[in-house]
Amino acid sequence: MNPWPDTRILDLFGIELPVIQAPMAGATQSSMVIAASNAGGLGSMPAAMLSIEQLRAELTTIRQHSARPFNVNFFCHQPPAADEQRARDWKNLLEPYYRELGVDFDAPTPVSNRAPFDHAACEVVEEFRPEVVSFHFGLPEQSLLDRVKATGAKVVSSATTVEEAIWLEQHGCDAIIAMGYEAGGHRGMFLSDDLSSQVGIFALVPQVADAVRVPVIAAGGIADARGVAAAFMLGASAVQVGTAYLFTSEAKVSASHHQALRTARESETAVTNIFTGRPARGILNRVMRELGPICDKAPAFPLAGGALMPLRAKGEADFSNLWAGQAFPLGKEMTTAELTRRLAEEGLAKLLGR
Ligand SMILES: Cc1cc2nc3c(=O)[nH]c(=O)nc-3n(C[C@H](O)[C@H](O)[C@H](O)COP(=O)(O)O)c2cc1C
Repeated sequence: MNPWPDTRILDLFGIELPVIQAPMAGATQSSMVIAASNAGGLGSMPAAMLSIEQLRAELTTIRQHSARPFNVNFFCHQPPAADEQRARDWKNLLEPYYRELGVDFDAPTPVSNRAPFDHAACEVVEEFRPEVVSFHFGLPEQSLLDRVKATGAKVVSSATTVEEAIWLEQHGCDAIIAMGYEAGGHRGMFLSDDLSSQVGIFALVPQVADAVRVPVIAAGGIADARGVAAAFMLGASAVQVGTAYLFTSEAKVSASHHQALRTARESETAVTNIFTGRPARGILNRVMRELGPICDKAPAFPLAGGALMPLRAKGEADFSNLWAGQAFPLGKEMTTAELTRRLAEEGLAKLLGR
């Protein structure tokens, strides 16, 4: 018999361990997904920063090396209308950095690459039929969502408030990620852009569990067995863990991100909009301290990133997003398989008081 006190997510996704390796665009490649799924959890492949060809290649690799269920994750924001004045104001704000680093200010501004879920991405889902498809920033338009559901995939999305959780359930989600304010990366918020609405995981998970009938996945600040046990006690049926996987051998992080994760002080994360235009949690660095962490001049998501790109080439640590959640100091070096198994085994032991 399955020893977990709540098996709803295990049954829904067809997995052994209620541990979801979080999709982390830029940091998660197929090797991490394969390792997490083969360990018995659910590996998640982020698509937001991949071209359709790259996504196809990654999914081909996953299916070649794992027969287990896995998740593909998409952003589903509305691409913003071009706003040249705002783009100019933003670049002007960054001009002193261009001058300081000797970067050509007058060269064309690159375009930052976070693609929303669309017809072409949906075709990839139809082709590969991942067992789970997760979305960030709400859900895609109904006709696309219907096509995803027609493949048999279980559909999941992130809620950062009780209101968002109820909305997601009403719009057909099979499970809901309750994303606490502690979490690393972009806030999944989509009904409001008011940061004061954002709730910590201890308050969010039990309220979401009370408000919806579908199973709840707790995300944010979970990095070891204590967090897993606490999430189940609060009413979660699984955990989604991101930042702790940044310390695994399969994580693909830049040298400055790697260094910051190991040397920053524990209080040094903040939610910032300056890297993409949407709020996201990362380790404080120079540009966050000097312009933000929240700056009302930042262009709409994902356009803010473009003007920062040329600066990164010269000053990576100062101008790159170093996404991490508040629990990053709990991260430990190990493999993805080991982390997945330990979170589950030690979490279950704690939960059962062993
Ligand atoms: C580096 C990084 C990249 C992320 N990218 C994505 C993404 O592409 N899609 C997504 O739905 N969530 C993304 N997230 C959020 C995670 O999926 C997850 O919800 C979060 O990491 C959980 O909180 P934790 O970091 O405290 O474990 C990202 C998080 C991090 C740290």
